[in-house]
Amino acid sequence: MMTTSSYTVTQPEKASKTPGSSDSPPGNWFRRYFKRLWFFICGAYICTLDMIENLFIKAPKIEIEKMEKRSEQVVVMTGGPRGIGFDIVKKLLQLDYTVILGVRNESASQKGIDKIRDLGVTTGRIKFLYLDLKSLESVREFAKEVLASKEGSRIDMLLNNAGIVNEYYEITEDNFESTFQVNYLSHFLLTNLLLPRIKETAAKKGGGDPCHIVNTSSSTQRFGTIDFDELETSKVYSQLKCYYVSKLCQIIHAKMLEKKFQEEKMNIHAYAVHPGVIATDLWEDMGRFECMSRPYNTVMKWIGRTSDEGANTVLHAALTPEVLEKWGGKYFETGKVVRPHNQANQPELRKKLWDRSLELTAIPV
Ligand SMILES: NC(=O)c1ccc[n+]([C@@H]2O[C@H](COP(=O)([O-])OP(=O)(O)OC[C@H]3O[C@@H](n4cnc5c(N)ncnc54)[C@H](OP(=O)(O)O)[C@@H]3O)[C@@H](O)[C@H]2O)c1
Ligand SMILES: *[C@@H]1O[C@H](CO)[C@@H](O)[C@H](O)[C@H]1NC(C)=O
Ligand SMILES: *[C@@H]1O[C@H](CO)[C@@H](O)[C@H](O)[C@H]1NC(C)=O
Repeated sequence: MMTTSSYTVTQPEKASKTPGSSDSPPGNWFRRYFKRLWFFICGAYICTLDMIENLFIKAPKIEIEKMEKRSEQVVVMTGGPRGIGFDIVKKLLQLDYTVILGVRNESASQKGIDKIRDLGVTTGRIKFLYLDLKSLESVREFAKEVLASKEGSRIDMLLNNAGIVNEYYEITEDNFESTFQVNYLSHFLLTNLLLPRIKETAAKKGGGDPCHIVNTSSSTQRFGTIDFDELETSKVYSQLKCYYVSKLCQIIHAKMLEKKFQEEKMNIHAYAVHPGVIATDLWEDMGRFECMSRPYNTVMKWIGRTSDEGANTVLHAALTPEVLEKWGGKYFETGKVVRPHNQANQPELRKKLWDRSLELTAIPV
């Protein structure tokens, strides 16, 4: 396995190194470690608070069995049926949605679906399409296929669920730091590419049940101060800092979108949500001292949220119309609106992020 001091980029699937990718993370050793430690402390603090809160305040419940089936409706979701995604997909299938999943490995994802079916869920339909969020090209291809498919003739909900923390500094083929691209930029592009179809769907539905765009953000966004000088790459690499920033970017984007929808009087709501602290594979990818590996994970399994509760938390607002009518565009934790990082409330900064993201994804304004 890896040695403690190695910082090389892991190159699992794509063997050939992409131009511009870097083996050594920016920043000198000392500053990197200092930064790493600092953001680890921030994260550990917020996640521990979260878990303590979880002991007293329960995740919002949604009673799937009592809900109306959504047999006509279509959800597009990023990431496969594992982690929180597993329970989200399960609930969507229970509600008889058609779910288009953007995944990297279809056979691995099929196993997840088989498990859901084994649990006795017979309703709903799944369609897999290839999506690698580390590549903008792949995002474009995915969007094209979604829009051309029979299932994608309407989109009632877009769930931007996939997310990573990358222990290693990795520059993608598009020359962006991988966490920023996977968690934020690729989803930004995907949202923009699918938006016309979402708008069509909302218009077709008329009033009543709105369309939704949902982002799984994270409570750690509180520590994700955006610095435009190191947005797409880092000056001094810290995987957690990149993660926090990417999660704040998502919230800001939700706000921008919701405003646009209101201006255009579209029946679409966007929101961002923190699912809770949940023991999933995400924690394994964080780095050796960040996850304090096993002990913290074990505590999390005991007092953190279950992924079922996480899925409820994510879907709660979308499936509870009263909530979004009042609170669209907001950031949620445990079913409640929470004030995010100050930067999310700065209109100039929001605009700057939007413009920069458009520029980076090369969409004509
Ligand atoms: N767990 C927590 O405590 C926690 C807390 C706050 C926020 N969140 C957020 O919740 C979301 C789900 O996290 P999780 O805990 O369920 O994590 P997870 O178990 O690690 O799952 C990550 C998901 O992201 C997908 N993914 C990763 N890289 C991808 C790429 N390059 N292209 C396409 N898909 C990719 C994975 O798909 P594959 O199956 O193809 O690998 C997988 O479905 C994330 O956005 C995370 O930031 C989690
Ligand atoms: C996809 O997942 C399966 C396990 O379900 C694995 O055997 C296979 O190697 C994976 N394919 C790729 C390209 O990673
Ligand atoms: C979600 O985040 C993506 C970027 O990650 C952004 O494009 C999209 O507008 C956001 N939507 C919501 C509802 O937060």
